[in-house]
Amino acid sequence: MSVQKVANAAKIYKKVMMVPPVHFDVIHKGLNAHMKLSEPVDRIKALKQWETLRTTFNNLGLETEICRPVPGLVDMVFSANSAIVLDNKALIAKMNAHPRREESEHFARWFRERGFDVEELEKIGKAYTFCEGNAEFSPTHDLSSFFFGFGQRTAESAYEPILDFFDLNKSDVLKVRLVDERFYHLDVCLAPLALGHVIFYPGAFDEVSVKRINDAVGSRDKAIELTLEEGLQFSCNCVSFISNEGDAVVVASKFSHRLRNILEELGYKCVEVNYDQFLLSGGSVRCSVVDIALQRDQ
Ligand code: ARG
Repeated sequence: MSVQKVANAAKIYKKVMMVPPVHFDVIHKGLNAHMKLSEPVDRIKALKQWETLRTTFNNLGLETEICRPVPGLVDMVFSANSAIVLDNKALIAKMNAHPRREESEHFARWFRERGFDVEELEKIGKAYTFCEGNAEFSPTHDLSSFFFGFGQRTAESAYEPILDFFDLNKSDVLKVRLVDERFYHLDVCLAPLALGHVIFYPGAFDEVSVKRINDAVGSRDKAIELTLEEGLQFSCNCVSFISNEGDAVVVASKFSHRLRNILEELGYKCVEVNYDQFLLSGGSVRCSVVDIALQRDQ
């Protein structure tokens, strides 16, 4: 089946913030299980790949705003970790990853200068309450519910402050526990897609969470399980939205033939962007954006 135009899909207005990888490097060992210090980053290549990603988004109608990179903060390009943003409110992350902690003040300033109602998790959480922003918090396509991932870089205790700050009910936000260090953030093992499907790698979660995901996504055929290989290719680390042409798109760095076939069959257009320089840091497409315009009342 060829890709169909989506006539009546819930078109949630999306805009993302990105940080150019001007200072990107892989120098901090062990922030996640994928980081390879043995292979040097080709910064020119990284800049080109990032620029191609941004242009791809813009050409498809996804607006991007830019936050200025800061020298020395080599992971800042992964802006997904900056904050959770909803209804013009931004909850700034408290990074578990030590070398990334300084990013928060820069991200907080960026959001404040643009008029967001800003709070810092550092101030409202407990001493051990870490949460790495949008990397662990994903809305479904119509913003009717949310997934919150914890167990690796994010603490379960971030759940309550998130609910309080965004005025969410427990029933709106599904907690899922991550149990495999290769899948160290929710956004590397689960992605809600623009037509209501959710792709996920079940091995990244405990059994209760897999059941929760399957139950929540309504019918099993809306929940699409990825293989370990697809998971490790960072296929879940994708960005999905309705394009200005009315296509339901999924942008990722890699789709297996199997996954591409499944998604195309469901009506998605798969767009692949080479992002190999960022994979050296354990990051991919979704890590490079934070949603900044999601509004529940639109
Ligand atoms: N090297 C970065 C880190 O470990 C990669 C972050 C990727 N971000 C993400 N949202 N998955 O912090």
